[in-house]
Amino acid sequence: MISQNVSLKPHNTFGIEVFANRYASFSSVEELKNALNEKGEDELLVLGGGSNILFTKDFNGLVIKNEIKGFEVIYENEDEAYVKVGAGEVWHTFVLECIERGFGGVENLSLIPGSVGASPMQNIGAYGTEIKDVFVDLEAYHIESGEIHTFDKKQCEFGYRESVFKRKLKNQYIILSVTYRLSMSHRINSSYGAIKAELDKKGIRYPKIRDVSNAVIAIRSMRLPDPAEIGNAGSFFKNPVVEQSIVDQLKTKFEKFPNYPAPDGKIKLAAGWLIEQAGWKGKTFGSYGVHKNQALVLVNYDDSSGSDIFDLSTQIIEDVKSKFGVQLEREVNII
Ligand code: FAD
Ligand code: EPU
Repeated sequence: MISQNVSLKPHNTFGIEVFANRYASFSSVEELKNALNEKGEDELLVLGGGSNILFTKDFNGLVIKNEIKGFEVIYENEDEAYVKVGAGEVWHTFVLECIERGFGGVENLSLIPGSVGASPMQNIGAYGTEIKDVFVDLEAYHIESGEIHTFDKKQCEFGYRESVFKRKLKNQYIILSVTYRLSMSHRINSSYGAIKAELDKKGIRYPKIRDVSNAVIAIRSMRLPDPAEIGNAGSFFKNPVVEQSIVDQLKTKFEKFPNYPAPDGKIKLAAGWLIEQAGWKGKTFGSYGVHKNQALVLVNYDDSSGSDIFDLSTQIIEDVKSKFGVQLEREVNII
């Protein structure tokens, strides 16, 4: 059923009050088709948990919220399990279900907000793991033809916070389900410094997937603001991947700074560190600002407008560019 003039405040983790001209949720392909039949010439926005979106104005079109459920083990032996999951399932619920069943591979991605269907959109990642590491394929509804197409890993063209659905195929497909390959003989990845430290703190020498998940949950709860308390969409910017020459320039000013090897001989810098060095960390402007513990996270404390937060992000981008010669790119989808 399509509703008119619906507030999207409960549907985005920034908690921005904007209105959708029309809104519908769907929990099957049939319901999706019915909603799309009503689209007419209107613009369309597919919404999962709204945890990677900044609304800067009312949406003068049709918003459809994915609520397709399902968790199906389609193949299992003693080593591995293939699980097909409905796009409208909550990502963290899926992670917990895997841990419950002893399926390894997604424990490092515990507590990332949002839906399963959005996980391939930006190849979600945290603490040394990305979904491309466990991804098998996905089914997606092609809006123009009404056909359902399957995409394997290669066709998704995953990169750091990237996929084909954010680039070449933007706005062309609605993801219906994702199949992951989980492993029972899985090698724990606790190489990320903070995970190691958390496990050491608890005296855990031989961690199981549940221990890693609990460590990740503890670290994230300490470092990142909970959207139920402070509006935010996680990292607002991507970590920039730069040429060696930029690193050499930074070395003339700073003795030490976080940097990590990236593909093609490039280097990944920490956007949070650059923003902090530029003096933005913890700055507040009325009811919005830069989080006090994590400079990569922009926050809405109360009833800010999305365009104010967007303008703040532009100021930060310009300032970091002028101070360090580094171009930041937004991670959050701006609508
Ligand atoms: P939405 O915000 O609803 O949508 C995101 C984009 O995907 C939009 O363009 C939307 O149109 C599109 N989309 C959504 N569902 C579908 C679908 N079924 N078919 C087609 N298009 C679709 N991300 C990380 O990678 N790592 C992190 O560690 C991380 N930490 C976070 C911490 C916090 C506190 C918050 C608030 C966010 C964090 N994020 C992180 C960002 C966010 O959780 C992920 O990007 C998540 O995958 C978004 O899911 P969603 O369902 O909320 O997507
Ligand atoms: N740092 C600062 N100041 C800050 C924030 C970070 O100096 O205010 C430094 C830290 O000290 C550290 C480095 O930057 O040396 C990296 O920090 P952290 O490990 O916290 O990770 P991040 O780069 O801030 C990235 C992802 C997160 C993901 C974590 C853990 C991006 C854009 N962000 O954050 O993803 O959870 O690593 O893997 O890649 C998201 O995408 O929304 C997100 C939260």
